[in-house]
Amino acid sequence: MKILVTGGLGYIGSHTVVELINAGFTPIVIDNLSESEIEVKERIEKIVGKPIIFEQVEMCNKNEMIQLFEKYPDIKGVIHFAAYLIVNESVTNPLKYYHNNIISTLNLLEVMLQFKIKPLVFSSSCTVYGNPEDLPVNEHAPIQPAVSPYGNTKKMCEDILKDTALANDIEVISLRYFNPIGAHESSIIGEFQDGPPHHLVPYITETARGLRNELRIFGGDWNTKDGTCVRDYIHVVDVAKAHISAVDRMINNKISEKFEVYNLGMGVGVSVLEMVNAFEEATGIKIKYNITARREGDVEAVYADTTKANQILNWKTEKTLTDAMRDAWNWEKELMNNSNLI
Ligand code: UD1
Repeated sequence: MKILVTGGLGYIGSHTVVELINAGFTPIVIDNLSESEIEVKERIEKIVGKPIIFEQVEMCNKNEMIQLFEKYPDIKGVIHFAAYLIVNESVTNPLKYYHNNIISTLNLLEVMLQFKIKPLVFSSSCTVYGNPEDLPVNEHAPIQPAVSPYGNTKKMCEDILKDTALANDIEVISLRYFNPIGAHESSIIGEFQDGPPHHLVPYITETARGLRNELRIFGGDWNTKDGTCVRDYIHVVDVAKAHISAVDRMINNKISEKFEVYNLGMGVGVSVLEMVNAFEEATGIKIKYNITARREGDVEAVYADTTKANQILNWKTEKTLTDAMRDAWNWEKELMNNSNLI
């Protein structure tokens, strides 16, 4: 069964393509290569041991999308990852984010309607919850005003998807990721980045590697267990597998609402200092750190109530934080040995 994967050479997309193939699906991978490397295609092929179908498509160009669906008339569902995701950049260049993330989603929906394709899995984020009042946060928590244009595009896309699903023959599962980390255990794929990292774990691994003198920890005076921010870190392969559960639910007609939302996390709040300790324990490498001022836009603590995904999607995490740290470090070593990759 063919499943279209947009942004399929990106971080979560590439891991999901591997899991789709492991589960017997045939992914049609599209990417505009603006934020990813074509080499990821070969790397996926190395893991799965066979060629994959890839098309370089610009989703903001509707004609390219129509041609894609004409070329592959037997696509049965879509997983939509393609989006810009650098929070700081979205603040300085909001139009780039609103244009790309919204237009690509609108084009996708219009073409899905035209070609009568119903199931869509959307890549959303816990960023929609802001700084939640009640923890762990469940799917009924109020949506907060976004702190960045990036976060706003996730919220806007959820609204667009929901309204479209309610009015048309389309069904959507929106997966709200907490903090995906780590890499494939083979170290063949992971998070590629062009320039400085955007998230905590690559900062930790780059410090371990000696690329950085120290890790800056943003704030030690938060109202948390040790004063540093708390997040719900989840292994990227566990995130990827949830997409297979979501696709299964849709293609087996088990959907009960036309727009369903699920949190994807480990369900555990982990502080930044605990992350440093977890890395040190998993690898035996000490991380030099310095507690600095708070980072603008950070939320104090957010972690997921994953009951809904556990019960309805029949999905649960299989990997531990130690697994994620070990895989993140092995991936960093892979990047170190292939400096052409970054
Ligand atoms: C960030 C984004 C969020 C997005 C999410 C997933 C911001 C403000 N938020 O969330 O919108 O949905 O990624 O893509 O960018 N930290 C340090 N030192 C560092 C880096 C991070 O102490 O060098 C801390 C942060 O303060 C935070 C935690 O580590 O407490 C995790 O940070 P990060 O990986 O950037 O993710 P989020 O802030 O959760």
